[in-house]
Order: sequence, then structure tokens, then C-alpha cells
Amino acid sequence: MRTNQPQTIYLSEYKVPAYLVDTVDLRFELFEEGARVHSTLAVRRNPESTEGAASLRLDGDSLKLERVALNGEELVEGDDFEEIGGQLVITNVPAQFTLTVVTWIEPQNNTRLEGLYKSSGMFCTQCEAEGFRCITYFPDRPDVMARYRTRIEADKLSCPVLLSNGNDVERGDLENGRHFVTWEDPFPKPSYLFALVAGDLVEKQDTFKTCSGRDIDLRIYVEPRNAAKCEHAMDSLKRSMRWDEETYGREYDLDIFMIVAVDDFNMGAMENKGLNIFNSSCVLASQETATDLAFQRIEAIVAHEYFHNWSGNRVTCRDWFQLSLKEGFTVFRDSTFSADMGSPTVKRIEDVTLLRTAQFAEDAGPMAHPVRPASYMEITNFYTLTIYEKGAEVVRMIHTLLGPDMFRKGSNLYFERHDGQAVTTDDFVKAMEDASGRDLTQFRLWYDQAGTPVLAVSDDYDAERGIYSLRIQQSVPDTPGQTGKKPQHIPFALGLLGAAGEALPLLLESGDKAAGAPTERVLELTDASHTFEFHGLAQRPVPSLLRHFSAPVRVIYPWSREQLVFLMSHDLDGFNRWDAGQRLAVDVIQSLVGFSDDAGVEPRLVQAYRALLGDLALDQALVDKMLQLPSEAYLIELAASPDVAAIHRAREQVFHHLATSLREELIACYHRNSEAGTYEVTPESIARRSLRNTALAWLLMISDDTGRDLALQQLRDADNMTDRMGALRALVNSDYAAERSKALEDFYERFQDDPQVVEQWFAVQSSSDRAGQLPQIHALLTHPAFDWKNPNKIRSVVGVFAGQNLAAFHNPDGSGYAFLADQVCRLDDSNPQIAARLVSPLTRWKKFAPAYSSLMRSALERVRDKSGLSADLYEVVHKSLGG
Ligand code: TRP
Ligand code: ZN
Repeated sequence: MRTNQPQTIYLSEYKVPAYLVDTVDLRFELFEEGARVHSTLAVRRNPESTEGAASLRLDGDSLKLERVALNGEELVEGDDFEEIGGQLVITNVPAQFTLTVVTWIEPQNNTRLEGLYKSSGMFCTQCEAEGFRCITYFPDRPDVMARYRTRIEADKLSCPVLLSNGNDVERGDLENGRHFVTWEDPFPKPSYLFALVAGDLVEKQDTFKTCSGRDIDLRIYVEPRNAAKCEHAMDSLKRSMRWDEETYGREYDLDIFMIVAVDDFNMGAMENKGLNIFNSSCVLASQETATDLAFQRIEAIVAHEYFHNWSGNRVTCRDWFQLSLKEGFTVFRDSTFSADMGSPTVKRIEDVTLLRTAQFAEDAGPMAHPVRPASYMEITNFYTLTIYEKGAEVVRMIHTLLGPDMFRKGSNLYFERHDGQAVTTDDFVKAMEDASGRDLTQFRLWYDQAGTPVLAVSDDYDAERGIYSLRIQQSVPDTPGQTGKKPQHIPFALGLLGAAGEALPLLLESGDKAAGAPTERVLELTDASHTFEFHGLAQRPVPSLLRHFSAPVRVIYPWSREQLVFLMSHDLDGFNRWDAGQRLAVDVIQSLVGFSDDAGVEPRLVQAYRALLGDLALDQALVDKMLQLPSEAYLIELAASPDVAAIHRAREQVFHHLATSLREELIACYHRNSEAGTYEVTPESIARRSLRNTALAWLLMISDDTGRDLALQQLRDADNMTDRMGALRALVNSDYAAERSKALEDFYERFQDDPQVVEQWFAVQSSSDRAGQLPQIHALLTHPAFDWKNPNKIRSVVGVFAGQNLAAFHNPDGSGYAFLADQVCRLDDSNPQIAARLVSPLTRWKKFAPAYSSLMRSALERVRDKSGLSADLYEVVHKSLGG
């Protein structure tokens, strides 16, 4: 029935490789019916290895072996080598030798999108984490670093462009209308950074002058129809290159940097040395086809992949347990970059929203794991929010504890000390310690303990002595396989506000002078319980806790609604202003769960929102964020045993009540933010469009005819996708059924030839409780534009339905769960990586109210019992069923 149980790999069993590879010489013969890969490796025994074995073990997956030769001598199967459990084991090898391996692969039939595959007629690769072994036999682990030389041969007509890592050193014509290009990468790299692209692509070219005056040739390769959609990515690339020089002192190293866009891609993008490969949706943009959100996402991902050139490629991971070494650090870097390019407060709000909604849920679920996991079955299951987002928070905390100057010293030391090496998260922390002189021993627990720490905060005010005391108790919850955890080292940023909203000086000793005293401090929590005293306070202050979200923790404090309203309008930390608003809205919605009328909607919430809509002094991007009600997903995450339907109803009630009460203000907000002007992607104009679309969505939510007319007008007049999509989304989520279908039809008609826009069109329907009920979702799956081989399409229908259309997905009859189980099973045979990601909403079954959880569980069991279950899905399903 099932495949054999996949093996568990343990960090504690790490051994250095027995053999090293100095150079890899590759020759690819690409044909329509397959590809032949000739690989010649210069191999030598690793002097650091204590293993006595004289056998060389190479990884391989889905390969047809044609030839093996050692120092030019043909090897014989059975005598000289064996294929065991996917590995090629070559016996009795000398201490140093040349090994030649020839394999035959079929890129055109590769639906897993790992290794070499075809996407829209073009050959491309994805080797992280273990895809190189789908190309040839190789010690496919990141601590084997080699210099690569790659010759690609293909048909000149169908594949005029032939790319690989490094510099092109030779090219020429061959017989039968074929040609070749040879690439040489001077930097030793692990196999997961290898890349190859061959196809009919056009090139958008630019140059960048580095800080030391070198000219770098920048190229973005896309299909000819996308030629006009590269400008934003190119600008983003140049900004990233400049920023990394200025902020980290990191200069680019090769003479050429290439980006290629491919339509079929399992993730967002990949940092292959000198040849980044991107999911088309993460690189292509134009005013007419991409929303502001897409523009920002592209900038962030281009930056992320570019930054990997140092944090990932020059210094790479010793093994996959260290994945956060490159991902956590690089997310921290791209997040700071985005903050510098726009509004730091808004960027922080976005990052924390993702973290608290999705990473906290992961940390509380069956797949919870530390930033540095101790074991895994299938590494692709560990490209998680914990590794990326929590990993970035851990680096951010080091930055907070050390301060910017020491942090920079630490990162310089890290890059210098480990350039060209494959290292561990511990090496990273050590460099930070050595540069700063700080002891991060306890801090390291952030890498090893899973689960989100909880801080219970209580306070007291002694009027007579003028002392305000704050008690903070921390605990780290149990997670699968980890109990009885130790207190962690937590930076806790704090401010205190006086009655008029003024920032009060934070005096830790009774004699301290108020003048010049800081009004914000980072308290360092190291024990299970701390009490801090603040002196010289004439009145009880209002605390502003965990400013900037200085640590990825849950804070429990008995805020009164009055305090929250006060903080919403007075806190000097923009992040905490937003957070106070979120907490107030959460409190109001939670108090309505289970009640059926909106009589109980807190009038202070309405007043606060009215004030926001009229506050023109405040950064409008922040106003826009503050107007967004907490998502259903976040409300579910916060609830102990969520009844999804009740949460959905309560949130809708609050929405309706607010929109009805604020109708005039919303219409005014819409018009105020509509003044015509040329389209720009700047923080100000993004905020303007977003506010206007928020107002529109709220008006349509209450079936306001003025709102409907504005939406129809906006659809007619829009000169950009943000406005067009804003209007479409508002209509789709409204009760104007006729307008909704007309708008959807027109939209499709107009954009049907643009895959990225069609993906948005799918998503706007799948996420809607009006247009995305199950029968409609089924219809989308049979739509001519839907494609089971394309991960983006699958994500935009199935993923969005299960992840964003929560009331429909959690239909109490279980139909949403059964639907997801069906699609996951279907997908597992063609693309197990995507199947294992898609199933994740079901894995949270234990959290839900019993009526939901039993149905979720049985859907999951059905997946477990599928025949030929992949290792990817096996791990996720078995771990979440608890066995
Ligand atoms: N290293 C990539 C990044 O974060 C992630 C990635 C791209 C990936 N493609 C993948 C991970 C395929 C696993 C499988 O930038
Ligand atoms: Zn990355």
C-alpha cells in the first residue's frame, strides 16, 4: 500500500564527507526526447574524515546510468560498483582519482520540478535542496564544494540561449543545427547552487558599477512576450546591489549576474550562483498587470536572492539542519532592505502579521520544529516559516542586543572568517560574540527550542513612592518531542506614556535624573521571572510593551479597552499603535463570537476608526494598515478551540457595523485618495491606492450603491492593476451578483493571455466566500486556463481556497476538507513537494472545535492511506496524525 517508511536524518549523526570533489566538468546534450549528462569529477579522500571506507557513495534519483569510468577505465556493475537504495557505491577507490559518470534523464517528463525539467519549452533546473542528484550521481550535500565547468549543447533554433553559472568562456556551432556554450564558475560551490537554462529567451541588459569601480553585466532573461515586464526587477536588482555595499560592505564578485523567469516553479526563486532562477510571478511586472503588492514582493525577492550571493553562496550551510543560517539571515537582510526602501513601520507590521498568523500557528502545531531542527525525513518540508521568518527574527534580536555597529562588526567577521566555507548557525553566533564581546550562550536556545515563548506581564503602581513595577514571567510551551524548556534570552523593548501621551523618562534607580534619561529601553529577560522598577513617576503610566515587536513572543497583559484606544492614538512607536488597534479589534470580535447581533460592537472602536479615517497628519500607509481588521486566520490562531463559522460571523458583524457607521467617512476617504496623477510606485501613492481600495471594499461589503457605482467606474477607468484588482475584489466579495459575474468575465476576456494575471483572477475568486464556494472552485479546476502541472495555478485555486477562504474550507459538512484531501492525493503523484505544502491546513486538526477536528482528521487519514504516498507527504501526514 504505502511506500517504505522514509528514513529520519539526525543532526547528531553528522559526519564530514569521506571524499571531496575539487572540480566538476559537465557536458549536457539536450534533446527533445531527453538529455545525456556527462560528468567528470576530480575526487580525493577527505583528510578530515575518520571513516576507513574505501568506497565512494554518490547520491542519485530517477537516473538512468549509462557509463562509469575511473581514471579512464570502464567500471563493471557488480564488480566495481553497485546501485543500492538510490546510491551509486563505487568500491575500492584510490585516494585520488577522476570519475566519469554518464546518465540519461528525461526533463520533458519531470513533473516534480526538481533537477532538470522543462517549463514552457525551456530547459531549466532547480537543485536546492537535493535536486542535483536528479541530474547526475554526486555527493549531493552542501559541504562538498567544487568548481564547475559546464558545457551545454542543444538545438540552435529552439535553444538559442544556453546559460549556466559563472562566465561564458567558449561557444560555437556543432553539426545538425546544434551549438554549444561553455560556462566556468571560478567560485567553489555546493551542488544545490548549480543551474542551467536553455531556451528561446530574450535578454534585457543593464550594467552596475560596483563600489570598487567594476562594471557588472546585468541580464534578465524572459520569454519574448514578457520583454516589457523586466524593468522593475532590474531596478530592484540595482538597488539591492547598492544597498548590500552600503549596509553590509558586500560587493558583487562575478562579472555577470543573470536572472531568468520560468513559469513552472515550486517556490518563489532560487539564488544559484550568478544565475538566479525566478518564478515568473516573482519577477515580471508592469503597471497594467501587476498590483502594488506584486511590485513590492518582486523587489523583496530580487533582493533576497541577490543577498544570498554572500549569505548563502560565498558562505554556505554545512548541512540542511543549518538552513536558517542562510535563510533566516537573508530574510532579515531583505526585510531591512525593504524597510529602507519604504516605510519601516509598515514593513514591520507586514512581517509581524505573517509571523503571528502563520509562524506562531506552525510553532503550535504538529510540525513545530526549532530554527535549527534536530531531525527531518524530507528536507523540502523544512523550508518553513520557522526557518525563514522566525530565523530572521532571531537574527533581528541579535541586531537589537548588539546594536547596529557591533552587529556590522559581527557580520564582517562572519563573512571574512567563513568565506568559501560551509558552516553552522553556531559559527554565525560565534562571530557575533567574538566581534562584540557579548556572551550569547543562553541566546543560542532560540536555535534549539521550538515553540513560541509566552510572556505574562503584570504591573503595579506605588503612588506614594512614585514607582511603577513591571513583572514579566516567561515560559516556553511544550512542542512535539520537546518538553521542560529553559528560559530564553529575550530583548524586550519598552516605553511608558503619561496621561497626555507624553513619553516618560525610564529611571531605573531612585536618584536618577529625568533630564536626558531614555524614554525607551530594551530590557533583557533571561530568567523565568523578572521585576523591573521605574522611578520618579507622578502618575500611573500606560505601558507600551514589546515595541517594534522586539522578540517573536506572545505577550499576555490585561489591557483595558481604554488603554488600547489611548495607545492607538498616542504611542510613539507606530508599530505599537497598530498593535493596540489590532488588540482592540480582536477583543471586540472575540466578545461577539457566539452572539448574533451587532448591538455589542464597542463604540470606542468606531470612534477610533473614525479618527483614523480623518487623521491626515499620520503616515497614510500606517492609517491604511490600522484600518485592516485582524484576519480570520489570526483570530483562529488566537482562539483555543475555534469555531470557524462563529468567528467568521462575528468578524463580519464588526465589519458591517463599522462600515455602516462610517459610510460618509469612507466615501470621503475614497474621493480624497482618488485625485488623478501619473501612476507611481512610491510609498505615498501605494498608500493612496490602498486606502481608496479599502474604502471601496468596505462600502461594497454593506451593499452600498454608491460604492458599487464607484467600483464599476474604477474598473472602467483604471490605468493600473492595483486599482483594477481593488475594484474587482470589492465586487467579487459583494452581494452584487450580476455585477460580479460581468466584471469577472470582462477581466478574464481582457487578460486571458497573461498567466500572472490569470493567477490573480483565480485567487480573487478562490479567496471569496461569495465566489469561492466549492462548486465554483470545482469549476475553476476545469477551467481551460487551469493547469495541474503549474504550481502557481494550483496555489491560486487550491492553496488560496484552503488558506484564505476559511469559512468555505471549514464548511461544517466537511466538504472543504474532503476536497483538499482529494487534490493533495492527486498531486502527490506528479509533484510531491507541492502536495506536502498544500496539505498543511489539514495538519492543524487538533486545534479546532471537535465538530471540525474529527472531519479534518479523517480527511488526513485518507491521505495517509493513499497508495504510493511520497516521502514528502508521508512525513507531514504521519507527524500530524501523531504516529
Ligand atoms: N533558496 C530558495 C530561497 O529561499 C528557496 C527555494 C527555491 C527552494 N526553490 C526551492 C527550496 C525548491 C526548496 C525547493 O531563496
Ligand atoms: Zn532564501
